[in-house]
Amino acid sequence: MPTLETIVNGLEFKNPFVIGSGPPGTNANVIRKAFDEGWGGVVAKTISMDASKVTNVAPRYARMRATGSKEVFGWENIELISDRPFETWIEEFDSVKQSHPDGMLIASVMEEYNENRWKEMIERCQEVGVDAFELNFSCPHGLPERKMGAAMGENPDIVEEVTRWVMEVAKIPVWAKMTPNITHIADPGERALIAGADGLAAINTILSVMGVDLETLRPQPTVEGYSVPGGYSCKAVRPIALRMVMELARMMHGKYDNQTISGIGGIETGDDAAQFILLGSHTVQVCTGVMIHGYGMVKEMSESLLAFMEKHNFETIDDFRGASLPYFSTHADLVERQTKAKVEAKARREGMVQKDAQWSGDDFVAQSDKLVSND
Ligand SMILES: Cc1cc2nc3c(=O)[nH]c(=O)nc-3n(C[C@H](O)[C@H](O)[C@H](O)COP(=O)(O)O)c2cc1C
Repeated sequence: MPTLETIVNGLEFKNPFVIGSGPPGTNANVIRKAFDEGWGGVVAKTISMDASKVTNVAPRYARMRATGSKEVFGWENIELISDRPFETWIEEFDSVKQSHPDGMLIASVMEEYNENRWKEMIERCQEVGVDAFELNFSCPHGLPERKMGAAMGENPDIVEEVTRWVMEVAKIPVWAKMTPNITHIADPGERALIAGADGLAAINTILSVMGVDLETLRPQPTVEGYSVPGGYSCKAVRPIALRMVMELARMMHGKYDNQTISGIGGIETGDDAAQFILLGSHTVQVCTGVMIHGYGMVKEMSESLLAFMEKHNFETIDDFRGASLPYFSTHADLVERQTKAKVEAKARREGMVQKDAQWSGDDFVAQSDKLVSND
């Protein structure tokens, strides 16, 4: 029988399913519920030292549905980090660890560009026993105006510097959460690893404008007639998230093999999770999916991930992590492979060669030219 139990950065997860930072981990009660329903870990809603600077607006969500359907496949939010006091969070982290010692509790933290504040926040959270940290270098809206979140994450020098501050005091594993709103996610990702981060988490939401109301001509979500670009999540972002996780995994391969990836973006099923693991993820996070389907979804996800593993005779998550990465290549290589396959198929059809025959380079070029021009 396969098992979903997995050890990541020395932490024992009963399964690789982790609640992603956001509304599903917004206080101790819902974090407890997540553990009771069977989630292996929870990344709590992002906190900072001074919640009084955080003011949310309403509405702050907008949804994209398929035409004529109720099914949500895209979700935009302009929600900020937690507006609950730091002291309250410290008490709640403590009480969750007391009541649910086996659930992996990950504190998501964000601060201004200030070494003392980052260090104090890390020290105070680890004192009450959280299992790991996620550094939020990636919130795309609101906080960048205060040079926080994605404003840090899009600058590899700052990612490295702030991660170093954190690593000087952290005694537990640290993941750096990356913004997708950048051309090459591997650049800041590598700088976080160079600074000593134990892992990367990707992706946060993609900067977006959900739409414009054609009656009022106002962009959505509309707050007192105005809007700002927000963060896009849910199924629609999954292909982009898979690509970015793949890029991080390829960057890490052979160089940062003890550091890990937590894959995030549009995950709703065990099959989605399997794809992120096949591209190099050690754990997978779900945020919008839980807002739509509820905490209980982890049961079905676990069953279907186990069924996938059984079908392929994988006993552990480690057995198939990264197994699809070797099949990414260059476009020129795809052309070469396809040309060769066509030549061989045609030759077989015409009985020109035995099944296993080797082509000489000249034959190959001549035949491929003929085939390609006949296409
Ligand atoms: C309403 C909402 C609030 C979020 N708040 C946070 C946050 O406080 N910190 C953070 O790191 N990510 C936050 N996220 C981003 C998610 O953790 C996740 O990276 C992203 O939504 C993609 O995953 P998903 O498609 O499973 O939601 C938020 C997402 C949503 C939808």
